[in-house]
Amino acid sequence: MAQQEEVFKKIISHSKEYGFVFPSSEIYDGLSAVYDYGQNGVELKNNLKKYWWDSMVLLHENVVGIDSAIFMHPTIWKASGHVDAFNDPLIDNKDSKKRYRADVLIEDYLAKLDDKIDKEVQKAAKRFGDTFDEKMYRETNPRVLENQQKRDEIHTRFAKALNDNNLEELRQVIIDCEIACPISGTRNWTEVRQFNLMFSTEMGATSEGAMKVYLRPESAQGIFVNFLNVQKTGRMKVPFGIAQIGKAFRNEIVARQFIFRMREFEQMEMQFFVVPGEELEWFEHWKKLRMEWHQALGFGAEKYRFHDHDKLAHYANAATDIEFDMPFGFKEVEGIHSRTDFDLSQHEKFSGKKLQYFDPELNKSYTPYVVETSIGVDRMFLSILAGSYCEETLESGETRVVMKFPAELAPVKLAILPLVRKDGLPEKARQIMDDLKFSFSCQYDEKDSIGKRYRRHDAIGTPFCATIDHQTLEDNTVTVRYRDSMEQERVAIDSLQRIISEKTDMKNLLKKLSV
Ligand code: GAP
Repeated sequence: MAQQEEVFKKIISHSKEYGFVFPSSEIYDGLSAVYDYGQNGVELKNNLKKYWWDSMVLLHENVVGIDSAIFMHPTIWKASGHVDAFNDPLIDNKDSKKRYRADVLIEDYLAKLDDKIDKEVQKAAKRFGDTFDEKMYRETNPRVLENQQKRDEIHTRFAKALNDNNLEELRQVIIDCEIACPISGTRNWTEVRQFNLMFSTEMGATSEGAMKVYLRPESAQGIFVNFLNVQKTGRMKVPFGIAQIGKAFRNEIVARQFIFRMREFEQMEMQFFVVPGEELEWFEHWKKLRMEWHQALGFGAEKYRFHDHDKLAHYANAATDIEFDMPFGFKEVEGIHSRTDFDLSQHEKFSGKKLQYFDPELNKSYTPYVVETSIGVDRMFLSILAGSYCEETLESGETRVVMKFPAELAPVKLAILPLVRKDGLPEKARQIMDDLKFSFSCQYDEKDSIGKRYRRHDAIGTPFCATIDHQTLEDNTVTVRYRDSMEQERVAIDSLQRIISEKTDMKNLLKKLSV
């Protein structure tokens, strides 16, 4: 774990050093849990959003996109339940004065117990070698059994306390588990209180006439309130989906882990409207599709897992998360929820406008049920950084840091490098650049030795470098160097556009997906 923490720190500083992510307002000492994307970060993020958008809107004839406003009528948040119930249970340590999410303290404690059990099993696996029977060991070893029982008991109490919204019991679990504040080391805890996460501001010219409005805490409500607009103008037939990418804001109290938990972040959400009664089938369908989407990136199936919710929101009849193996453990990057007809019915009730669909095949009107897929762009971005970050020792003894991004997502696809800054090589390289820049993102770089330039492009994850040398002037060929294998190949300039386009085209990822 300590090693993983070290890697995480390196990823954060690498992100800054190479123009992926900067702390917001840095010259004013930063703004907690707010980040800016740099020149390479924004390209990677745009490619990631395109991958999601195309997988939804291009590949599914019955999914269309919208872009709704961040400000919405405040009653929307009353209807959706956010004004009354979008809360986190918070607890303060009286000695350090630090504030924590009570549920996160308990989740971390459970994760430590899981870790302890896994370590015990791994140790035994090493000791017994090929003859090791993991299942039997887990079922019979007294230490493993004891920890497992403890974990299960705590977990059951925790899930029930969350479900019952029982804040006293949440506190009691913290006390019984002897969870201490990481800063003060004491167990001197306050009561647990609920804290609303929405940011608000005022809209209007005068303070008397101003209306309190919220910065949306999720983009989904913009889809619900446009459900009929899209259905009617697009002549959409249920089942159909509406996709949206946009900013969301939450006043996260325990903001930590870099861009994992931010106060301003971006979501990619898709609401899929279905015939009531068919929602659980569609839920399974989207679960499968969404996992495929993640796995198509090639980081390895073992990096992802589903985590079914212990606490189902009162309006949901199924919910799961897709988790990624981050350097700080498996964490949610995407939520898939079967939200019944809760949101549409609430908006009908609060707006007084009918939000029903007339189904020509069933010859009746109904409020559709909704299956939602909701993924955080920034968390997904972090999973890509973590999955791609690689330190390698070369044969020469040198080390290199290489970001092994899927080529389709890489910020720069091709680096164009004249071997030396003379003899007409820069001019030739410029000609190639001017020709190729219409097809994909290229970067011209002539400064420093060729080795240093390769390292620089490894560090930003450029999958291909083309080196222009004296032979290029004679036979119009260049050396293409592959980022991951570092192999080199001589190719004709005429074929560069085709080769690099083929290897970096978003189509490659999209074709791996079923629809
Ligand atoms: N409309 C449903 C919804 O918003 P959610 O589980 O609260 O569900 C969906 O959020 C996704 O948004 C999460 O899986 C996560 O990737 C991302 N997300 C939520 N809060 C975030 C935060 N504070 N910082 C970064 N990403 C966040």
